[in-house]
Amino acid sequence: MTEILRPDAAGIAHAAELLRAGELVAFGTETVYGLGADATQARAVACIFEAKGRPHFNPLICHYPDAESAFAHVEANPAARRLAEAFWPGPLTLVLPRRVTCPVALLAGAGLETLAVRVPAQADTLALLRVVGRPVAAPSANRSGQVSPTTAAHVLEGLGGRIAAVLDSGPCPVGVESSVLDLTGPRPFLLRPGGATCEAIEAVVGPVGRGITPAAAQAARTLRSPGLMVSHYAPTLPVRLAAQDVAADEALLAFGPPLPGAGAVFQLSAAGNLTEAAANLFTGLRALDAEGQIQGLRGIAVMAVPESGLGLAINDRLQRASAPRS
Ligand code: TXA
Ligand code: MG
Repeated sequence: MTEILRPDAAGIAHAAELLRAGELVAFGTETVYGLGADATQARAVACIFEAKGRPHFNPLICHYPDAESAFAHVEANPAARRLAEAFWPGPLTLVLPRRVTCPVALLAGAGLETLAVRVPAQADTLALLRVVGRPVAAPSANRSGQVSPTTAAHVLEGLGGRIAAVLDSGPCPVGVESSVLDLTGPRPFLLRPGGATCEAIEAVVGPVGRGITPAAAQAARTLRSPGLMVSHYAPTLPVRLAAQDVAADEALLAFGPPLPGAGAVFQLSAAGNLTEAAANLFTGLRALDAEGQIQGLRGIAVMAVPESGLGLAINDRLQRASAPRS
């Protein structure tokens, strides 16, 4: 049985106790729900991969209550300090060299010499991290390759019965994962667009490398960021992007005034607001997938989302959702 915990002092204390005992606890963050384990216990970390059905080569992000505790485990350079000052707590993950004294289990970093660290922005989550007193490794709390969860109910759909508890802190306000920025090379490189926009990052550290092509993604998958699978975040039904019309036997993920004639419609943002659309994205994919299966629809058509600000992260997730399945 998976316990559902309220984010009050007793719930947080119990969640922390479970984590310290090596159990898996899912918790809300501002981006998506994370599936947490004590990052210093390799066995607990291994349970994450098992519960998710996740390939072992895929490294995890470690979560900390503040920059000071994060930088005790990785070598922070001046860019990292400036970014931490500007974005933490918040949806930016920094990839930095591990310190030799770093107690995080190697499995959490998939054996890499770098570690991804982040300070999430949610009062309950920060309280939990403080009480645990250890880094918490947490990928998104979904089965590998499926849509990321933005509510406790989503977590239970995929992982109910496989994990000890979920700390229910309500729906995630940002709704897409953190931006992952590699600071180990000659200049910052955006490995994954996410909740912190590229424009905002560049305002702090100047030009950021980005733009992983499918070919480069193949290489990146084994080198820099093994988690950048091409087909990822995939619903069961096929996904068709930039739809300009929609058939009666298709579901429609709408952005702005919906195209007429769909068999089912989920509105990301009627007003065409990217922040609202990001927060609704994974819920919308899940809802249409479920509805489409009930009605026997053949696929999900997605209206175009502008490629700016949070639109980058939204389009990245949609492209993965529509990529050929292997
Ligand atoms: O918003 C988020 O980041 C959520 C919440 C729970 O914090 N977490 C999340 O974790 O999305 P996950 O495991 O689903 O994605 C982590 C990403 C993957 O693309 C992984 O390859 C990359 O970060 N990553 C982790 N460690 C890395 C490292 N040392 N070097 C390069 N990429 C790394
Ligand atoms: Mg994920």
